[in-house]
Formats: sequence, structure tokens, C-alpha cells
Amino acid sequence: MSQFQSGILLEHRRFAIWLEARVTGDLDALRQGSKFFLQQLEALQTQFSDAGLGAVIAFGDALWRDLQGNASAPELKAFAALGKGIAPATQRDLLIHIQSQRHDVNFALAQAALSAFAAAVNIEEETHGFRWIENRDLSGFVDGTENPQGEARKEVAIISAGADAGGSYVFTQRWEHNLKLWNRMAVEKQEAIIGRTKETDEELPGDQRPATSHLSRVDLKEEGKGLKILRQSLPYGSASGTHGLYFISYCHRLYNIEQQLLSMFGERDGKMDAMLRFTKPVSGSYFFAPSLDALQAL
Ligand code: HEM
Ligand code: MG
Repeated sequence: MSQFQSGILLEHRRFAIWLEARVTGDLDALRQGSKFFLQQLEALQTQFSDAGLGAVIAFGDALWRDLQGNASAPELKAFAALGKGIAPATQRDLLIHIQSQRHDVNFALAQAALSAFAAAVNIEEETHGFRWIENRDLSGFVDGTENPQGEARKEVAIISAGADAGGSYVFTQRWEHNLKLWNRMAVEKQEAIIGRTKETDEELPGDQRPATSHLSRVDLKEEGKGLKILRQSLPYGSASGTHGLYFISYCHRLYNIEQQLLSMFGERDGKMDAMLRFTKPVSGSYFFAPSLDALQAL
């Protein structure tokens, strides 16, 4: 199989940086930028081998068509707003996802990304993620428990055959929490919204779980098979200002991610995810992360 990019399957990394950008320069500057970025990544991986550094470069639909035509990534499309705009679309052209155990090393790679792509893109959002206490989201609920583990991570996230082998579909969505409002709610109410217990992180039995709970919205099955995705989200932000979750998921099918989104934003059965009572998405983009080989051959 073509080698997938180093930032997709990583486990337990403590810090992340996400850069979302719009293309301003020509395609050659972008191709050069990608190559230069990969060199810098390798250099930092060697220099700081303790950091477990990995990264992903991914492309929005319009840019990927310009680079590769229509044959690659047939499911890729621009993200369109859902739930009458409750989930806004801010479709960007380029995503750079950096993760490791060290914020300082991540920051150095982000700086390298800026110089690599300086002639080609305008950075529209930069988000710094950190793993919070006990892998919890800032809501206090453990996030990532039902993520695929071990070999299953690859099966879920990476395209296994065909021209796009080694590639992955990506979705990013930054959420802003209202923690003042959230922390005034009784814990039992919060648990009904998420669909799991807070302290002990156990799934609520199906009959005790409202259809609007987050778990009920996203734990979907088709013909007896779960529509699985791989999440690499982390909390971000400042204590006194804006904060929340930067949601990011990888999948070998865009379909699985989209079905969960349709379900959360009322586009399947009219029901919205109850989490929307305390948090709201403020961005949304689909991307395609080509295999390392495809990236190097651009
Ligand atoms: C599960 C939080 C957005 C998909 C969970 C869990 C929490 C959580 C606490 C339970 C623990 C776990 O299994 O990880 C959040 C928060 C979000 C958010 C705070 C945004 C503010 C999303 C979005 C999607 C999604 C946008 C899909 C596009 C999933 C999936 C599961 C899950 C697939 C596992 C369900 C299962 O199989 O049990 N989320 N989530 N989440 N979430 Fe989210
Ligand atoms: Mg489940």
C-alpha cells in the first residue's frame, strides 16, 4: 500500500496545531511548498525523535481538482452548511495538521510551514490544541473512548486500494463552548446530552439515552455495520476567552463522516444534537489527504 501521511493514525499526542489556508499563489508554488514542508518535517522528526512528531497536508475540493483532476478522491466535495446554517461552511483550500508530544516542536514545524507556503497561501485560521486532563473535552467528558484502536485505526482511516490507496478523507470543524451555561447544568442533564456518564465514562443504556444525545446522533449503523471514523480532536483556546473543541476526523469514506453530520444537524430525521445547547460550530471544511507518494509526486 502507498504510505499514508505520518499525522493521521498517531495516538495520545499531547499537542496539535492546525493551519487552514486559502490559496493565493500559483500551483507550482504550492507543489514546491509541499515538498519543502515534507523535508522540514523529516528534519524535525530526526532532530527531536522523542517528540513523536507527525503531520498531514490535505486539500479542499477545488484545489485538489486543479492539482489532480477528477479521477482522484471521487467523494471529495466542498462542505456546505447544514441545519439551515447552524453548521456553517468555511471551506478552505489547504489544511496542515501537526501533532506531537511537544508544543515547541509543533510550533517550529508550523513556522516551517509558513515559510514553505508563503508564496502560495493565506492562512485564515491557526488553532493550537492541547490534551486536557484525562483525555477530557473542556465539557468534562472523556473524548475519544470509542475511537478505533490498533489495526482498526488504519482500516477505518486509510483508503486501502486503488489509485487513492494511502489517502484519507478529512473533516474539520471548530466548536466554541459556552462553559458558564454548561457548568450550571446538573450532571445528569449533561450526561443525557452526551449519552455517557461524566466521571466514569460509561455508555448510557440505549433506553436511557435520548434520541438527541450526541451518542445516539453519531453511533450509526448500516446493514449491521458501524459507520466508523477516526477522530483526532483536541481542546483549544484561552481560559478567559474563546475555547472549545477543534473537531477533526479521518476516514476512508467521506460518506461515514457526512452521515454523522447529517444526523447531528437535523438532516436525517429532523432531530438536532443536544450538544448544540452549549456549543456551536464556527467553521467547517472537507479535505483529502493524499498518500505520501501522491504528495511527493504532485
Ligand atoms: C463520541 C464529544 C463533535 C462523532 C463522543 C464522546 C464525546 C464527544 C464526549 C464520547 C466518548 C467517545 O467515544 O469519544 C464531542 C464534542 C464535540 C463532538 C464535545 C463538539 C463540540 C462530533 C462530531 C462528530 C462526532 C462533529 C462527527 C462528525 C463522534 C463519534 C463518537 C463520538 C463517531 C463515538 C460514538 C460511538 O461509537 O460510541 N463525542 N463530539 N463528534 N463522537 Fe463526538
Ligand atoms: Mg459504540
